[in-house]
Amino acid sequence: MISVKEKTLAAKVRSDFPILHQEINGKSLVYLDNAATSQKPLIVLDTLRHYYEKYNANVHRGAHSLSVRATEAYEGARDKVAKFINSESSQEIVFTRNATEAINLVAYSWGLTNLKPGDEIIISVMEHHSNIVPWQMIAQKTGAVIKYVFLTEQEEFDLDQFKSLLSRKTRLVAIVHVSNTLGCINPVREITSAAHQVGAKVLIDACQSAPHLAIDVQHIGCDWLVASGHKMCAPTGIGFLYGKKEILEGMPPFLGGGEMIGEVFLEGFTHGKLPHKFEAGTPAVGEVIALGAAVDYLTTIGLDKIHVYEEELTTYLFKRLTEISKIRIYGSKSNLDGKGRAALASFNVEGIHGSDLSTLLDNEGISIRSGHHCTQPLHRLFNASGSARVSLYFYNTLEEIDSFILALKETIDFFTEIM
Ligand code: ALA
Repeated sequence: MISVKEKTLAAKVRSDFPILHQEINGKSLVYLDNAATSQKPLIVLDTLRHYYEKYNANVHRGAHSLSVRATEAYEGARDKVAKFINSESSQEIVFTRNATEAINLVAYSWGLTNLKPGDEIIISVMEHHSNIVPWQMIAQKTGAVIKYVFLTEQEEFDLDQFKSLLSRKTRLVAIVHVSNTLGCINPVREITSAAHQVGAKVLIDACQSAPHLAIDVQHIGCDWLVASGHKMCAPTGIGFLYGKKEILEGMPPFLGGGEMIGEVFLEGFTHGKLPHKFEAGTPAVGEVIALGAAVDYLTTIGLDKIHVYEEELTTYLFKRLTEISKIRIYGSKSNLDGKGRAALASFNVEGIHGSDLSTLLDNEGISIRSGHHCTQPLHRLFNASGSARVSLYFYNTLEEIDSFILALKETIDFFTEIM
């Protein structure tokens, strides 16, 4: 049942998502694992199917009609993504498999070329593994040193400590916009501006922000920004890298093969122009076009509307979660009312393992994530091997939060009785 109040957004869009209308274990599905991946609206599914049914062809390669049509749709999707994040030019958008590949692209192309022993890379303890491991691999190869930004007592990004780490040795700052575990929204504009003052480059991981907040790369001022399509209503297997044109131009290709070349000789090759010099091999054509449809879909709803509605959901989620005794919610302690937080909460309940919680909630048709959420160092800081996480999107409802809280309370009661 959807309340009249919720007709503001969720009620309007739920019919766009076929997957939401099914039963799991005999109960209506309540999907609350959106930080892991979002569900896909019909328009995205139809776009993908339409491509394969009507104009499946390789791009940039043939003069035949199908290839021309596929190429136009593929490059059209690039224009849409560029506009979505307010990039100055579509040449600044490189399609990758996901955000992880985009970070690896920067690490291997820019990092290997520019970093030398003693140079410093600043990342934070709240990064997910995709924004830690590539830098550790590049640091091992180059002799660069990684410095970590820790949390304040409030469990937020420690901006003062970050600023104290900055020096002329800092070559790169790579920071998450919205933490997938803490749900904090980091001050990426201030971080970028402070890093630029010491001459460092800045990469922003927008995996958890691009689906929920309007992104403006020119306002942030970052040098690179990465995101994954599957968290923003698009299929899996497609993500993107934004990079300032002059910086991308100065970076050598990452992967070699077709598509990225200018000319190939027995003695060597020249690389193609931006953005193709970073898109070796046949790309995920259908998925890119479907990403374009997802961007259109989100833009038509309006990121501002999505954000406002999610704020309402988040406030309600935190109001209900904080009713539960023995719960430990991770992240900003000053925002336990949910204000200023992203639409997710990671938590543990004393004496109950997160995976037990998620298994029993699944019996009630409720999908939440448990585990380390690809943030093992952060969980270690909290002396926790993992946590349970509930993460919302604009198609979730207040009633779904109620179902989740009811099932959570029943699960806790069950464990309390048997312990
Ligand atoms: N990093 C993704 C998550 O938070 C996979 O679930």
